[in-house]
Amino acid sequence: MSKGKILLVLYEGGKHAEEQEKLLGCIENELGIREFIEEQGYELITTTDKDPEPNSTVDRELKDAEIVITTPFFPAYISRNRIAEAPNLKLCITAGVGSDHVDLEAANERKITVTEVTGSNVVSVAEHVMATILVLIRNYNGGHQQAINGEWDIAGVAKNEYDLEDKVISTVGAGRIGYRVLERLVAFNPKKLLYYDYQELPAEAINRLNEASKLFNGKGDIVQRVEKLEDMVAQSDVVTINCPLHKDSKGLFNKELISHMKDGAYLVNTARGAICVAEDVAEAVKSGKLAGYGGDVWDKQPAPKDHPWRTMDNKDHVGNAMTVHISGTSLDAQKRYAQGVKNILNSYFSKNFDYRPQDVIVQNGLYATRAYGQKK
Ligand code: NAI
Repeated sequence: MSKGKILLVLYEGGKHAEEQEKLLGCIENELGIREFIEEQGYELITTTDKDPEPNSTVDRELKDAEIVITTPFFPAYISRNRIAEAPNLKLCITAGVGSDHVDLEAANERKITVTEVTGSNVVSVAEHVMATILVLIRNYNGGHQQAINGEWDIAGVAKNEYDLEDKVISTVGAGRIGYRVLERLVAFNPKKLLYYDYQELPAEAINRLNEASKLFNGKGDIVQRVEKLEDMVAQSDVVTINCPLHKDSKGLFNKELISHMKDGAYLVNTARGAICVAEDVAEAVKSGKLAGYGGDVWDKQPAPKDHPWRTMDNKDHVGNAMTVHISGTSLDAQKRYAQGVKNILNSYFSKNFDYRPQDVIVQNGLYATRAYGQKK
């Protein structure tokens, strides 16, 4: 007789799981936590079958589960209806960062705790942001396509290729990822780094960036906070989105906000797909209003085959730097979030509930973090 049921929803590894034992985040390797869970007397059910609601294995197994663990890369959407059908549910764990796949209001009403492994993949994402910005601004895809197609039309690529140096680059959200992106950008000697966030960066964080920028421009005044988002995007050659998805950030980058962006700017979103209106972005890329859009997050995952971001492009084929949702699930990140999930489970099993404060998103009916756009 088990103490309770834990439901783990992960992406499929298939032959890749056989080839790579470090692939902890797939169903075959179960974050490396089966033995640990069973030793604690709990039953572990693992599945990839999460959609469509309400006819999936997740719907069936969640009904008597106490804990559900899932990743943002292949999320089981823990909707209000699913929560209503799961009377024993006490804890939702995100193996990674970003818990918008859980209906946090519904979780609060039921006093379900929602936790994530804060910080576990923030470097991984910051690196992906840098890669995406560079792919777009250097017109890497245009050059790569020619290389593999046997072509040699330098002008055709170079006419859309720029340097990052001396550009204005901005981030929406300057938290763990946004700040790391700013840190990495300093080395490219941009004209200015701008940020828009509800919370001001601490003075020492700004000083660090300004001091580091002296290495490149000798001036040391690189970072500025901008109060109005429209004002920030209007000045920016590149905008990167690094805030969580919540009711105030959903659909933030729509036709209206994009109309304030510079003509030919680049937009990079590794935060959450639904922060952008998919059709508005695709239209802006097609028309050339945006020179390019890239990122790894989609409004529904897996994204449907006909999602406009799969095929959007401009006439020079440089506008699309999309990948599937991979930035936060590098093998290094998987190791960290697998360990983080184990730590959260340990706190739960011990009944001390002594989670790391930064891992708690909602608890006892309250939001624990302002990052989700809510008061404490
Ligand atoms: P964080 O909590 O350290 O920072 C988020 C920042 O965004 C905070 O400073 C907060 O004040 C600010 N913010 C919230 N709403 C905002 C808004 N509407 N406008 C401007 N700023 C706002 O979070 P962290 O670790 O930096 O992660 C940010 C997001 O990135 C996550 O919530 C998640 O959605 C996404 N993410 C994506 C991953 C991927 O694999 N693509 C992996 C990890 C995180």
